[in-house]
Amino acid sequence: MSDANRTAALDGVDPELIPQRRLYTGAAMPAIGLGTFGSDHVTAGEVAEAVKGAAAVGYRHFDCASVYGNEDRIGPVFREILDGGVTRDELWIVSKLWNDKHDAVLESCQKSLTDLGLDYLDMYLVHWPFPNFHPPGCSVEWHSPDAKPYVHESFMRTWRQMEALVDAGLVRHIGTSNMTVPKLKLLLRDCRIKPAINEMELHPHFQQQALFDFVKSAGIEPVGYCPVGSPGRPERDRTPDDTVDVEDPVIVRIARRLGVHPAVVCVKWAVQRGQTPIPFSVKRGNYLANLQCTLSEPLADEDMRAIAGLERNCRLIKGQVFLWKDGQSWEALWDEDGEITPP
Ligand SMILES: NC(=O)c1ccc[n+]([C@@H]2O[C@H](COP(=O)([O-])OP(=O)(O)OC[C@H]3O[C@@H](n4cnc5c(N)ncnc54)[C@H](OP(=O)(O)O)[C@@H]3O)[C@@H](O)[C@H]2O)c1
Repeated sequence: MSDANRTAALDGVDPELIPQRRLYTGAAMPAIGLGTFGSDHVTAGEVAEAVKGAAAVGYRHFDCASVYGNEDRIGPVFREILDGGVTRDELWIVSKLWNDKHDAVLESCQKSLTDLGLDYLDMYLVHWPFPNFHPPGCSVEWHSPDAKPYVHESFMRTWRQMEALVDAGLVRHIGTSNMTVPKLKLLLRDCRIKPAINEMELHPHFQQQALFDFVKSAGIEPVGYCPVGSPGRPERDRTPDDTVDVEDPVIVRIARRLGVHPAVVCVKWAVQRGQTPIPFSVKRGNYLANLQCTLSEPLADEDMRAIAGLERNCRLIKGQVFLWKDGQSWEALWDEDGEITPP
């Protein structure tokens, strides 16, 4: 163990003990990561500080994206972490291609590498399958006049560029995000390099069992965003029907019994169920608790069964800004009939 790891073990978690997921390539990915989307209320500097603090308590997996607008602040922190004795192969660093760059994959990846101060990424994702630009922070009603539906041929042109990044050694793995079963089936049919993960919304009130089972059976690891139910998301991302995972009586009851915050129960359930949660927090006590719970005694079978029964089909990130036709409802983005929604 390096000196940096030994220090982390004293005041955090020994990174070597964190559960790992084995990807189809044989690579090991830490089964919990730190989210880095500060949204409206957390500055780039605060997120960068959290990355530094999280690495000090044992996190090795960081979920970044160009659109989060903070990769240039996180880069110097990665430099410090590496200078402090953590080796590059101990880190698992993810970035994502934004929607207005589907035709400029190499350029976007190189920009993220430069901002993050890295030679390669462990994982590069297509953030959304829709090539539709929207300005950061815009209202959910905002629609680009040029918005396009999912067109598989266009997506494959992007995916070919993603595959070329692997060939060039700029990224070790590629993956998808916000995909559906029918879109993934087409990608699996036509790809040369299969996605290693699919990043998807996953929390007790939105378990996506069919998509979860599909990706697992295809040898793709599900990575779960909004694992705590994103209680800090901006008003524009809330609708009156949204439910609150951390206020669910079952989650609260288990949390009280274990003496932890309900958020920790959501994270613990996620890891134990088999997905890789990427909770966001800039508070040391919270991100530390999220990491520590992956090592404590597992939830009892009856707790796991009780949480499995909490499904509310409550999608929080509905993606309205990606709609391409007037009068469409956000469900069209998610192929709910089992077919790709026609243009
Ligand atoms: N691929 C995609 O399209 C996509 C979409 C959305 C998100 N993501 C990724 O997923 C990450 C997580 O999603 P998210 O940030 O929306 O939601 P989240 O992780 O479900 O929720 C984050 C919120 O939970 C609170 N929290 C976390 N741990 C806690 C704890 N132990 N105790 C009490 N409160 C706790 C945090 O508050 P404090 O800071 O006060 O602790 C923060 O407000 C993002 O940061 C991003 O990296 C990806």
